[in-house]
Amino acid sequence: MKQDILTLGLESSCDETSVAIVKNGKHVLSNIIFSQIKEHQKYGGVVPEAASRLHVMNIIPCLQEALKTAACSWSDIDLVCSTMGPGLLGALAVGLNSAKAISLSLNKPFIAIHHIEGHLYANLLDNDLSFKYPSLALIASGGHTQIILINQAFEYQLIGNTLDDAIGEAFDKSARIVGLPYPGGPIIDKLAQKGDPKRFNFPKVTTPNPLDFSFSGLKTFALKLGQENHLLTQEKECQIIADFCASLQFRLIEELINKLLLASKTHQVNTFIIAGGVSANSELRKRLNELNNYEIQIPSLKYCTDNAAMIAAAGYARFLQGETSPLNIEPKANLRLCL
Ligand code: KG4
Ligand code: ZN
Repeated sequence: MKQDILTLGLESSCDETSVAIVKNGKHVLSNIIFSQIKEHQKYGGVVPEAASRLHVMNIIPCLQEALKTAACSWSDIDLVCSTMGPGLLGALAVGLNSAKAISLSLNKPFIAIHHIEGHLYANLLDNDLSFKYPSLALIASGGHTQIILINQAFEYQLIGNTLDDAIGEAFDKSARIVGLPYPGGPIIDKLAQKGDPKRFNFPKVTTPNPLDFSFSGLKTFALKLGQENHLLTQEKECQIIADFCASLQFRLIEELINKLLLASKTHQVNTFIIAGGVSANSELRKRLNELNNYEIQIPSLKYCTDNAAMIAAAGYARFLQGETSPLNIEPKANLRLCL
């Protein structure tokens, strides 16, 4: 039997067309990402129709590039995986159907993956780590903010969820309020480095279930601050914008840390798995680094935001369990990870 398993991963759930080839679920041979950000920036956010069209245009060149970079041919591929949801339906369909067609033509197994499970498995890429259970997963992305208790592999119990916006959305919408480009997270992170996190006192949030999140009030507060201080028309490199970014980021990250620690105390679990685009945030990484007596896994910076290598990693883990997906499976915009 062939010793190494090469997984071809495809990801097209939002505004990145990505194809990766990953050896044994860990070693990334290629991870090609065609970002559509420039196209969507003109509109201040992702335009679903445009995203689907760009995925259609880019998926084949992306596949060709992934094979070339990994120095592989089609016949080397053992397993084909793609994101099936959640995400934009038209966008998801492009990657999913391409993957199914490849699986059919190569006569190799196909596995459909939940996008957030992909983000979790990004933690295993390019290192020798494995997951420990039980653990608490903090999902912080553009579409999700959740705390999930994982008692064993693939068993996800939702214990905290956002009641309104996702944290990435809060970064993106707040950036828009002060005239910063989409996506707001990376630019707020950058400008915050020179800002005073104490200048603006973003309010603490309370939720009926203390493990839930709510970010809409912070967004409204950001809007009020923006209007009062005319932030939209300010020079983007000025001190007040830096202070706004630092203060907002401090509060948003404080919410994540506080809820994670509360979940840890409530469920007596000290192992954390961090996942999703916001795990690239430098303040979050710094705060996690300062915690003692916890075991914390966080993806390498290059695997935090959407990419296909993470989909291949999750697919490989499911493949080892003997799973495959039928070729008539459909994309699901609101696919749930937890029961
Ligand atoms: O996981 P992801 O790539 O896509 C989704 O599945 O949603 O996350 C994208 C989100 C965006 O909202 C973006 O602003 C945010 O991640 N993000 C960041 C940083 N890098 C990306 N947020 C805060 N700080 C960052 N450094
Ligand atoms: Zn994502």
